[in-house]
Amino acid sequence: MIGKAMQDALNEQIKHEMGSMYLYLSMSAYFNAEGMDGMAHWMRMQAMEEEIHAMKFFDHIKDRDGRVILQALEQPKSEWASPLDAFKAAYEHEQFITGKINDLVKLSREENDNAAFSMLQWFVEEQVEEEASVSKVIQMLKLAGDNGYALLMIDKELSMRQPPAATQQPAEGGE
Ligand SMILES: [Fe+2]
Ligand SMILES: [Fe+2]
Repeated sequence: MIGKAMQDALNEQIKHEMGSMYLYLSMSAYFNAEGMDGMAHWMRMQAMEEEIHAMKFFDHIKDRDGRVILQALEQPKSEWASPLDAFKAAYEHEQFITGKINDLVKLSREENDNAAFSMLQWFVEEQVEEEASVSKVIQMLKLAGDNGYALLMIDKELSMRQPPAATQQPAEGGE
């Protein structure tokens, strides 16, 4: 059974992951409104990934006979100054989340909670990837600057992002 301190902290993390989902969905809506459908798609896929993260914490609590208590989400921002501004905000948000994961790892050590510690290692690696993927887009957007053609090329590239693996339906008779 999961201890109270870890249960409370993981319930809090469900809120942060769903908050990430909500933020990226809001960014997706912003990009749709700006006519950047590829960026909107990329953020929508990112939002789906965050929901999967939230469910991993949800299931960890459930599987250890804990109690999931969902918390209120704040209204996310809905406007950004530019695509670069939005992706920079996403990068800052991921750094905030990485800090939260590190706090959870610390708590798992203090509580001698090996099950939580082991589960959290996946998130430690995931955060490295999350920061890297957003950082890569920021680099491209910086190179593009105000060049509309370059921005459209980036938009096209970001439109190719595949849905997260866990949400893909089993193939039926190929594609
Ligand atoms: Fe996440
Ligand atoms: Fe994330």
